[in-house]
Amino acid sequence: MEFSELIAQRYSVRKFSAKPVEEKDLTAILEAARLAPSAVNKQPTRILVLEKAESLAKLKDCTPYTFDAPLALVVCYDETAAWIRSFDAYNSGPIDAAIVGSHIMLKVHDMGLGSTWVGHFDPAKLSAAFGLPKSIIPVAIFPIGHPAEDAKPAPPHTKRNPLNASVIYESFL
Ligand SMILES: Cc1cc2nc3c(=O)[nH]c(=O)nc-3n(C[C@H](O)[C@H](O)[C@H](O)COP(=O)(O)O)c2cc1C
Repeated sequence: MEFSELIAQRYSVRKFSAKPVEEKDLTAILEAARLAPSAVNKQPTRILVLEKAESLAKLKDCTPYTFDAPLALVVCYDETAAWIRSFDAYNSGPIDAAIVGSHIMLKVHDMGLGSTWVGHFDPAKLSAAFGLPKSIIPVAIFPIGHPAEDAKPAPPHTKRNPLNASVIYESFL
């Protein structure tokens, strides 16, 4: 799909068919994640792949937003592996993980699959449920699957602010 078409068409899919995601498709999604840029190329992102019914059931205890998808990726970063800005000790992990998340979201849609970026989860419960080491910080969950036949965008999808709400031209400063 052409890029402009892809970013215009993508929407948060919250209803999936029971059809599983093929292993080759999962591999293609993970490859798109792997290619993401990161600060100082530190590549601190870690991705937990959840496919087993037992793991997906555990995920349900951590967030109401799994949408019964057959696959979920939990995008995390290792805070000890990320670039740290010397001026203020800012850890770049969340940004690096967000870029990986964006690659995942767009690749999923490009393949005709669907997903939603899920930020509403209990991080302490999630870390405990999957035994994440203390330095691994979960950032986002991506339930992934084939969109249900009647899946459609929720109303917020068409609500975007005009450019002048977010862009400040220097001539106005
Ligand atoms: C950082 C972030 C966190 C989000 N968390 C959730 C979530 O927990 N549950 C959910 O249903 N959607 C979540 N969303 C999806 C947004 O609600 C959605 O992207 C937005 O309403 C625009 O709709 P669209 O993706 O269909 O264009 C999240 C999106 C982002 C970027």
